[in-house]
Amino acid sequence: MDAFVIEGPATLKGSVTVSGSKNSALPLLFASLLFDSEVVFENVPRLWDVETTLKILGLMGAEYQWDKEEGRISLIPRLKSPVAPYEWVRQMRAGILALGPLVAKAGHAKVSLPGGCAIGARPVNFHIDAMRKMGAEIDVEEGYIKAKVNGGLKGADICFSQVTVTGTENILVVASRAEGETTIHNAACEPEVVALGTFLKDCGAKISGLGTPSIRVLGPCRLKAPESPIVISPDRIETGTWISAAVATRSELRLKKCDASQLTSVLDAYRNLGVEFDVSPDQSEVAVKPDGNYSSINVDTRPYPGFPTDMQAQMMANMCLAQGKSTIRESIFENRFMHVGELRRLGASIEVEGNLATIVGPSQLEGAPIMATDLRASASLVVAALSARGLTRISRIYHLDRGYQRLDEKLQMLGANVRRVRE
Ligand code: EPZ
Repeated sequence: MDAFVIEGPATLKGSVTVSGSKNSALPLLFASLLFDSEVVFENVPRLWDVETTLKILGLMGAEYQWDKEEGRISLIPRLKSPVAPYEWVRQMRAGILALGPLVAKAGHAKVSLPGGCAIGARPVNFHIDAMRKMGAEIDVEEGYIKAKVNGGLKGADICFSQVTVTGTENILVVASRAEGETTIHNAACEPEVVALGTFLKDCGAKISGLGTPSIRVLGPCRLKAPESPIVISPDRIETGTWISAAVATRSELRLKKCDASQLTSVLDAYRNLGVEFDVSPDQSEVAVKPDGNYSSINVDTRPYPGFPTDMQAQMMANMCLAQGKSTIRESIFENRFMHVGELRRLGASIEVEGNLATIVGPSQLEGAPIMATDLRASASLVVAALSARGLTRISRIYHLDRGYQRLDEKLQMLGANVRRVRE
């Protein structure tokens, strides 16, 4: 396993290009199962989760070439075995995104239950209940979701009791092949959901309401494989993570190839903390200008367009530097404060009561050995280590590699003293 050794406090200088979005690439890659001919993707991030997704698709029969330097994947989705095995799905919960396309295309599927992860139990009952309502017979046995469509898929009125991103994505795909109209109430509005829906529309699906809590799909739609490459949009959470790093090191950073329009709630929160931004007219470049004296703020994580839960840990690391008492309420996941104990080891003053964390600052963080527990917690530990005095060793950095493309190399190019070491 790899670890990062980071010497702080660091000062960052220059600009960084944001990679393609992990959470947009994964559903689009799985949705290619709907087609029989080649689908090409560009601006695909070089991540473990993309590797895992291609492994699962390959096991199903797909052939692919991945030019990692170019960020280009050419995929021929041959479907020989509609099975997403536990050994891969347990490494990446997003493997559940295979279920929708398999049910829609093959009419049967065997997809491993994803299992829990550090941030919570993360059940998939909403996915299963909705597909049952649309005519799929689904049994959950021996750790697998076994789906079979006998009498054809039918449109239905789906109402999610809680906003679910991958649940909305799976039902969009199934609804595009179901007879009749499907309405998804309390649908996720995340940009990644809109990107998937737009892709399906470009291939012939009749979808309205994307980006709103109520989406309508009129099926069955004859889907035509896209003629031009699908370009993965910029990763909004990576963009937010760079803002967090700039704030932690009180450095001016220029972020390129991003999309600031997807980060309104994040930019607003950081403006309240004490950060100025210059955003280019086309929203693709952001200059981050932290003034260094940060005020305490209160943040609640919410479904899009609210403050994203995937930025909660990074914001918490920044709140440690703010004057006074800040709070962050995690309203999406039941156990997404695993980074708190590690931040405390660096000297942070954080109390947790239920889903509310209270952070008192400013703290002068001191380097120490700490451990990554999940993807975004790892990012928050890197951010904190950049502002801490002395050496910090972050173990189990494989969590980071799942969702950030060569973060150490990008940080080194900005002047940070970060070393990747073999544990
Ligand atoms: C997606 O996960 C993202 N992953 C997550 O990003 C992100 O944190 C999350 O959405 C929320 O924005 C991908 O897009 C691949 P949910 P997802 O279904 O879809 C509960 C990252 O770091 N729920 O929106 O799995 C669930 O437990 C990852 O990139 C059920 O109870 O999340 C959670 O409390 C982490 N039953 C809430 O809903 C279900 O059937 C929202 O989960 C589904 C969800």
